[in-house]
Amino acid sequence: MEFKVAVLKGDGIGPEIVGEAVKCLDAIGVRFGHAFTYDERLIGGAAIDAVGEPLPLETVDACLRVDAVLLGAVGGPKWDDPSAPMRPEDGLLGIRKALGVYANLRPAKLYAPLADACPLKPNRISDGLDLVVCRELTGDVYFGEKRRDANGAGHDDMTYTVGEIERIARRAFVLARGRRNHVTCVDKANVLETSRVWREVVERVAAEYPDVRTDYQYVDNTAMQLVINPSQFDVILTGNLFGDILSDEASCITGSIGMLPSASLGDGKLGLYEPIHGSAPDIAGKGVANPIATILSVAMMLRYSFDLHEEADTLEAAVERVLDAGYRTGDIAKPGEPHVGSAEMGDLIVKALGV
Ligand code: IPM
Ligand code: MG
Repeated sequence: MEFKVAVLKGDGIGPEIVGEAVKCLDAIGVRFGHAFTYDERLIGGAAIDAVGEPLPLETVDACLRVDAVLLGAVGGPKWDDPSAPMRPEDGLLGIRKALGVYANLRPAKLYAPLADACPLKPNRISDGLDLVVCRELTGDVYFGEKRRDANGAGHDDMTYTVGEIERIARRAFVLARGRRNHVTCVDKANVLETSRVWREVVERVAAEYPDVRTDYQYVDNTAMQLVINPSQFDVILTGNLFGDILSDEASCITGSIGMLPSASLGDGKLGLYEPIHGSAPDIAGKGVANPIATILSVAMMLRYSFDLHEEADTLEAAVERVLDAGYRTGDIAKPGEPHVGSAEMGDLIVKALGV
């Protein structure tokens, strides 16, 4: 089969990690007889530098014409001036909104060979970690009105509509049905009105999925539960801001933020696939970044946008085999242990695919 992929490398380590992910996707193509074609476009700081805006219209148009979008990362100190009229991050938020990808799935799994890289004591993680943060991605305080008032105070409006909550909640329950039938709804309903609406809507949707166990936690408690008893979680259903924070926390339990992929989905098949980490300007261009989060994002692309389940499983298994064989990038290596660079890790995964 033939599939078109828009490639948005972005800034910092973006080009390096996306390069390795494309290498793996091509290897899947060779092994299974698919043709993947790429349409590379600008986003983020690279786009600001080249054309003066973080999300050129051509990029949005190109993304709307393909089957899936692969994104690296955006941002960096060069564009951090708080008085600048635009930021690289505006490009990322803009493309999420433009594609209508409101459901952001961020699976956090502790691979057995990486148990040493997990910062928690072994007894806290003896039952493993295998959860998905189901983060609402196109609403919340991220997209509310932002302004400075006459007194110089800053305002960010936090809003959630019933419809926005309903559709992400359904996604979480369907996802849980394919896993361990458990949804934890995370909010701050003891303080926030948006969270009280969120909880009412989720309770209503939960009634349609009686086979799924639902519980409710306040986000501050979840932040604590993730480090004292992370195995209790299957699907964490939450809003944009809380999901951003909790997914970084969950990722470090897996050994490194360099391990976590994500899929951002809307109502159709078109999806946006990106690692959850940022552009890591401190290591950009050095060829040492961990490409696994981006490679696993490609596996999610195969599964969710292309319906190529065997191909997705095969790529994930190849990553696992390389980790099992003891290969590590610097972020997941034990201190003082030898490790491989980004390109070598990509090559090892391609080799494990038998290509
Ligand atoms: C993420 C990132 C982004 C977010 C930033 C770069 C805008 O932290 O994808 O988690 O906050 O969503
Ligand atoms: Mg984040």
